[in-house]
Amino acid sequence: MVRDMISLTPEIDRQSRVPLYQQLYGYIRKQIEDGILKEEERIPSVRQMSSYLQVSKNTVETAYRQLLAEGYIHSRLRSRLCVFPIETLASSAVGRRQIPEGLTEETKVRTAVPAAHDVIDFEYGDVEKDKFPLKRWKQCLTDALNDHLEEVVGYGDRQGHKGLRTEIAKYLYQSRGVLCSAEQVFLGAGTQQMISLLCQLLGLSGRVAMEDPGYNGVRTVFANHGYEIVPVPLDPDGLSAEHLRMSGSRLAYVTPSHQFPIGMVMPVRLRTRLLQWAYENNAYLIEDDYDSEFRYQGQPIPALKAMDTGDKVIYLGTFSKSFLPGARLSYAVLPESLEAEFKKGQQVYSQSVSPLIQTATYLFMSRGYFEAHIRRMRKLYQNRHRTLIRAISEYLGDRVGVIGEKSGMHLLLDVHGRDSDELLEAAFSHGVKVYSPRIQWMNPEECPPTYVMLGFAGLTEERILSGVARLRQAWFGESSSI
Ligand SMILES: Cc1ncc(COP(=O)(O)O)c(C=O)c1O
Repeated sequence: MVRDMISLTPEIDRQSRVPLYQQLYGYIRKQIEDGILKEEERIPSVRQMSSYLQVSKNTVETAYRQLLAEGYIHSRLRSRLCVFPIETLASSAVGRRQIPEGLTEETKVRTAVPAAHDVIDFEYGDVEKDKFPLKRWKQCLTDALNDHLEEVVGYGDRQGHKGLRTEIAKYLYQSRGVLCSAEQVFLGAGTQQMISLLCQLLGLSGRVAMEDPGYNGVRTVFANHGYEIVPVPLDPDGLSAEHLRMSGSRLAYVTPSHQFPIGMVMPVRLRTRLLQWAYENNAYLIEDDYDSEFRYQGQPIPALKAMDTGDKVIYLGTFSKSFLPGARLSYAVLPESLEAEFKKGQQVYSQSVSPLIQTATYLFMSRGYFEAHIRRMRKLYQNRHRTLIRAISEYLGDRVGVIGEKSGMHLLLDVHGRDSDELLEAAFSHGVKVYSPRIQWMNPEECPPTYVMLGFAGLTEERILSGVARLRQAWFGESSSI
């Protein structure tokens, strides 16, 4: 049997957001780098591997193409693919990228794989790095060390740096209409950490209603804390209030400013209904306001928290989009009714954000750099967003639909009549990385197969244009004049 004959037995995670071909590529590459696969050892044929893994031949070919292009494997007599000699692997990057001769009929390998540095990656989560005010940030870090040494060498305030919490409270009032005191603000190292703390420290209901599709990063945390997750479908405006009412839950997680991943902005009337639901059921709403700074159409809508007269909204914010994901800095604003309980529980936990980062961020905000940075990034992302929409319309036309384009740092494409696995692979072989959003569905099978996700914040307008031009070539076989 083929399964018995195979010399490599990769494990593939079909639920992962990493495409199958990348998993296979990564697995073989690691086996080679770790010396488990030795020089000239044979790699299973495309047919064997696809049969073993129960994946398409295309998937295996794409993985092999990349390994060939990077010089990890090469093609020997009679179409055999083998591990490249180790000395060659260890040699220069140029050597590694040489495309070996004698590519075979069997692998159908195309030699046109772009070098790794030329891959245009529409990864969601990337932010602009080149225009980041690095000098100012470095200055704040240095000043934190020079002028606040006492503060930054210890564990710091368990709730988080008081000055920073005050700056955040001010910022929230000015930008989101949220009126809160620094006492209600709690710092943490990212949204998942904050959710985890909420689960541990508050006696919340053990059943949480979540948008479906919705942010998998948060769903996983709830699940790991033993919460029962009640998926609530989306209406065109956002989470279905009707289904929420039937959910039997007294806790709901929502992304009203920019539904993740579909991207709708929840209108005020639906926000009012959600608040009513919370008041009538003595329930709490967790509002994840992760990227509200970046809105491109229509008037800004104040946060749900700003409309909450009944003290039922737990507000979550993060610096990952507006500043840097690497800061690992986020915060929760708790309703007054939960503040004391949370604070009491938190007193036995150390603060998870480095005091150095907290103090430097405090300096960055209090000097007005943060606001200036946001203003600059809003303009920059707006231009990138406009360029992306224009490129999609010009190069892909009505063969695709655009979903969730009013706000944020990503959008979805509905590539009519196609399948995302095939689309991702074709894109990759033309030097573009795009992603399937399927992991954000409670049941990934329910994600329309035609959906592809593109993050654009980390790409210049030029890269966006050539990326979409490459997609046109990859998906529709048409070149463009770019
Ligand atoms: C819906 C949503 N919330 C929050 C975040 C930010 O998470 P963190 O604060 O852990 O970086 C993201 C980032 O991907 C997100 O998509």
